[in-house]
Amino acid sequence: MKKITIVGAGRVGESTAQILAKEELCRELMLIDIHDGVPQGVALDIQESASLLRFDTRVNGDTDPAAMADSDMVIVTAGFPRKPGMSRSDVLDANLSIIDGIVDAMLEHAPQAMLLMVTNPVDVLTFYAWKKTGWPRERVFGQSGALDTARMTSFIAMETGYSVKDISALVLGGHGDAMVPLARFTDISGIPIEEFIDPQTLEQIAERTRQGGGEILALKQHSSAYDSPAAAIASMVDAISHNRRRILPCVSILDGEYGQQGIAMGIPAVLDENGLVKIIELHLNEKEKADFERSAAMVKEDIARLP
Ligand code: LAC
Repeated sequence: MKKITIVGAGRVGESTAQILAKEELCRELMLIDIHDGVPQGVALDIQESASLLRFDTRVNGDTDPAAMADSDMVIVTAGFPRKPGMSRSDVLDANLSIIDGIVDAMLEHAPQAMLLMVTNPVDVLTFYAWKKTGWPRERVFGQSGALDTARMTSFIAMETGYSVKDISALVLGGHGDAMVPLARFTDISGIPIEEFIDPQTLEQIAERTRQGGGEILALKQHSSAYDSPAAAIASMVDAISHNRRRILPCVSILDGEYGQQGIAMGIPAVLDENGLVKIIELHLNEKEKADFERSAAMVKEDIARLP
């Protein structure tokens, strides 16, 4: 990609910018934030690491939304973070008006771009942005499953002591307390996870995954997670930038898949240079289906609150 814009130069935005710049996933990286000096300062700081980290990515910052012009992708991280004890849904109203302004700016300045939503509640805001843009769903999607799956993978590595490189896990559903970690689709080097971990411990890992964001927020108190979210965003950008056709869990608009319509939520999808080009529909068993539907119902509750 030639140009990627990150809207929101907070912790997630900055961490993401560091990885994208270092991995040279685009030629030009633009950071946009409403707080004058912040995007410029963050960009300059990252730019000054270029000779040390050996990258040629040009990094700039601006407060003017017009600076997103000609972007191939806009990553939206701007918004109010939740405080300890708050759910992701609790920040919906506050973040809606922020997303409104960003989508308006995209329609004006970057109408050809892909939109990668990160701001919470991510499923609801991805759906909202998709409706507002009127763009095909290939170009409007969100990050959550890559992060949730990475968390589950870490917990399995901690439990078994085996390399994360050999662990493949899968988390579907909304990015909330009802997300759906799928042990049946989880393995270590192709060996089903049940061969290594008993069902009760697996359920504890699933629950820790569901609460993964909250666990970090409760520990840090003044910040949500940002290193692992940034790495999760970068894995999606890498798949698109290198046209890898990776299958990653993404927040996608559903149009009948998984029996759902009028919703965005996490499912496995194919990412290539054209964006989210294909949804992979899994044959869920009755319990998994019920869990997925419970998660969908929670997302729909928030979608019903949209203007
Ligand atoms: C988390 C927040 C960012 O899961 O949603 O850490």
